[in-house]
Amino acid sequence: MTHYTLPKARNFEHQISGKNTHLITLENSRGMAVALSDYGARIVSLLVPDKHGNPTDVVLGFDSIKGYLAADEQYHGVTVGRFANRIANGRFTIDGETFYIEPNNGPNALHGGANGFHSRIWDRRIVYKEKADFYYVAADGEEGFPGKLSVMVKYRLTDNNELIISYRAQTDKPTVINLTNHAYFNLNGEGNGDIHNHILQIQAANYLPVDEHQIPTGVPAPVENTPFDFRTPKLIGQDIMQPDDQLIKGNGGYDHNYILDTEALAKKRPVATVRSPVTGINLEVLTTEPGLQFYTGNFLTGKDKGKRGNPYEKHGAFCLETQHFPDSPNQLDFPTTLLLPGHVFESQTIYRFSVVK
Ligand code: GLA
Repeated sequence: MTHYTLPKARNFEHQISGKNTHLITLENSRGMAVALSDYGARIVSLLVPDKHGNPTDVVLGFDSIKGYLAADEQYHGVTVGRFANRIANGRFTIDGETFYIEPNNGPNALHGGANGFHSRIWDRRIVYKEKADFYYVAADGEEGFPGKLSVMVKYRLTDNNELIISYRAQTDKPTVINLTNHAYFNLNGEGNGDIHNHILQIQAANYLPVDEHQIPTGVPAPVENTPFDFRTPKLIGQDIMQPDDQLIKGNGGYDHNYILDTEALAKKRPVATVRSPVTGINLEVLTTEPGLQFYTGNFLTGKDKGKRGNPYEKHGAFCLETQHFPDSPNQLDFPTTLLLPGHVFESQTIYRFSVVK
């Protein structure tokens, strides 16, 4: 039996750009524990009891801040912003003025630019046993985005084994915003091979096909009769290797935004459910966001060795990133991602864990 523990707090005590970093831990009365770092306001570990009651770490990551700094993959567990996902050619226009974000993903700006929120040291505000708040102020013009943006990310761990992530932001100039969390989950336990044996359901009849640069073409497509259909629970591995043009554009797997069914959203029901037949761990995702990027770690290469020294290979994890649709600033048919002064951006996502025997 694998014995999973939280990383040592002292391995996260460091200085980055003159700011101290820490490990923050949350616990509930049901045996769940979460480790967070102010470096990227990120999730480091998520210990969840499996079907035998043994704590299992279900997110990829490293056991020290140095591990994160040296990693090939920058987005383990992070808060992504100011604009999660891709902006075509790094360009968009607000009120006739064009803004430019230096491309860091082929021709696109990805995840708020090279030095997005994932790379910043956030201030800790309130830290209790079951909650931690992180705060960051992005300067006007930071990474090319207009407006000074104050952002709060709140993590709450409930006795119902839910990790609730709430976002709140305000700007002093019109800007664009799209925030998400980039946890890489493996419900078999981090570093335990691929996620093909996981059973996934997504409440979405349509998704957004992409072009060769992974920018949505703008025309939603039905999932019906495609590998993208997860309306009834299906093995992630069932169709992932199919010679499907969209799976190939995703670099050999899923890396696509689902348009969540409005009924599931309106009734506050889970928009996605994933289960590992090995551990029995079941994850439900609830959100206020209209989209869900389902990503199967297609760019993981095995170079990064995780918390227990195991390589993080391609398909070694899945991400369910709740968000607005990619490239929204350039796609006027998509729900708007514009945030105006005097308005408050609010969004919430819940990762709820249980065991299915
Ligand atoms: C998102 C993107 C992927 C990849 C990861 C980070 O999920 O859609 O293509 O860039 O972030 O590695």
